[in-house]
Amino acid sequence: MARKIVVTSGKGGVGKTTVCCNLGVQLARRGCRVIVCDLDFGLNNADVLLGVENRGLYDLLDVIEGRCRPKQALLTHPAYPTLSVLSSNRVLERYLSPQAIRLVLQSLSAQYDYILLDSPAGIDDGFHRAAACADEALLVTTPHIFALRDADRVAGILKSYRFSEVGLAVNLVRKELVRRGDILAPEEIAEILRLPLVGTIVEDERLLIDHVSLRARGFRALAEHYVFGTEQRHKRGKRC
Ligand SMILES: Nc1ncnc2c1ncn2[C@@H]1O[C@H](COP(=O)(O)OP(=O)(O)O)[C@@H](O)[C@H]1O
Ligand SMILES: [Mg+2]
Repeated sequence: MARKIVVTSGKGGVGKTTVCCNLGVQLARRGCRVIVCDLDFGLNNADVLLGVENRGLYDLLDVIEGRCRPKQALLTHPAYPTLSVLSSNRVLERYLSPQAIRLVLQSLSAQYDYILLDSPAGIDDGFHRAAACADEALLVTTPHIFALRDADRVAGILKSYRFSEVGLAVNLVRKELVRRGDILAPEEIAEILRLPLVGTIVEDERLLIDHVSLRARGFRALAEHYVFGTEQRHKRGKRC
């Protein structure tokens, strides 16, 4: 059964979609079968980030309304055949219940290792819909004060979901600012938010251009956390 992980934040623009897609690529590189499911109906762009936007006819709405089977709506990545995107391009303002989405994910779950749910920003319906479809959460924040305040609120709300794991990824980290003491270190942020730090992603201008980069620092370690667990991160050999 796939692990269903919602990637969420509170504040917009902190890198949820970037983390979700790069984590998907890194997991697929390790042989895992991964779906990135775009539940940000307003600003869905996971398919664009992963370069699969014109590779299919159907999306999540078509599955839910019975026009195709779940597998037919999956957009397979050209370079990583075990990575697919379930887009929500045509959902727009339609109401989709978490129950309906959960049924779709459930039907795909047996054939995948990970389903990564890209959540919209905020703590409104879209956030709750995404959270209600997951068993685990990955909270993304940046070290900036506004992002931290929102992350703190979201961390509190996530507790009520009784997820089996809630991890923290700190994105857009600039090591020199941390060294100078100008911004909090990821470890300090984790302490403030009382969450385990499972990823530290450095600010990298390659991501502004390519969106997905094998050379961007932090995504490999994040994927290894999910494959091996924190303690066994350096054990070799285990695959999905
Ligand atoms: N580690 C990073 N280094 C540089 N740019 C980044 C990084 N993470 C995200 N970005 C950029 O920040 C912007 C917002 O990222 P995005 O993933 O769309 O955020 P969200 O999904 O939270 O709204 C994008 O232009 C993206 O390329
Ligand atoms: Mg996004």
